[in-house]
Amino acid sequence: MELSFKNKVVVVTGAAGGFGSATARTFADAGAHVVVSDIDTAGAERVAAGLPSAIAITTDVTDPDAVRSLVDAAESAFGGIDVMVNNAGVPHRKCDLIDLDVEAVDWQLAVNVRSVFLGCKYAVPALRRRGGGVIINVASIAAKRPRPGLTVYNATKGAVITLTRGLAGEVAPNVRVNAVNPVVAETGFVRSLTGSDVLPDDLRRDWVSGIPMARTASPQDVANSIFYLASDQAGFLTGVCLDVDGGRSIQ
Ligand SMILES: NC(=O)c1ccc[n+]([C@@H]2O[C@H](COP(=O)([O-])OP(=O)(O)OC[C@H]3O[C@@H](n4cnc5c(N)ncnc54)[C@H](O)[C@@H]3O)[C@@H](O)[C@H]2O)c1
Repeated sequence: MELSFKNKVVVVTGAAGGFGSATARTFADAGAHVVVSDIDTAGAERVAAGLPSAIAITTDVTDPDAVRSLVDAAESAFGGIDVMVNNAGVPHRKCDLIDLDVEAVDWQLAVNVRSVFLGCKYAVPALRRRGGGVIINVASIAAKRPRPGLTVYNATKGAVITLTRGLAGEVAPNVRVNAVNPVVAETGFVRSLTGSDVLPDDLRRDWVSGIPMARTASPQDVANSIFYLASDQAGFLTGVCLDVDGGRSIQ
């Protein structure tokens, strides 16, 4: 079955990064106009330049005015929004909760939770102006199977799951709201977590040993799941937080 997004408008935040750029490309390959949004202007422009119909917008997702402007820019450029992917997010450096300072916690809440609140707040009216649409939030399997050293990050993703399920009930039936819960993937996330581009071997061994499918996630695994949840084939799914985790959550 071919899933088409021809002439649909898809906004992806954090779209210069691993999951976001794969998601932007996946929707573009299916015919969508894509709004490639990131705080990293050069990265967003690079991703947008590789797509047939896309614009790059610099957005700090913690800033209400910036997120409102992102939605306005998408509507001005392409006439509306059909899909909003709230993907931008960052882990804190791996450390115990007692070693995190309050500023780091406030930043985590802003970049991982306030961001999703803002993306939903400004996307819902735009989706309604279009007659309906879909929001996909990127949470994490770590919300359900938390590992030590990332406690506050994991809690922010728990908030994303609860926000997704609650909002789905508020905005149905015209707007569907779903989430994905990825397991670890070797994207810019790893650099934020460890300070290095690749997972240290001992950490990879330890983490992969808890994944029945015996590997980390790929950005395409996550993009495919986002794409499906946004498609008409998932038209009866709302409030679903899909584990994209190679079975991590059943271990
Ligand atoms: N990679 C993983 O292991 C993993 C697992 C589960 C969930 N996630 C989640 O997936 C999402 C995407 O992460 P990724 O793995 O692609 O990492 P990534 O670092 O490759 O991408 C994150 C992107 O978000 C952007 N960003 C950071 N702060 C921003 C801000 N304030 N405003 C706008 N953009 C901002 C970055 O510039 C970057 O392009 C995040 O929400 C992350 O928490 C990642």
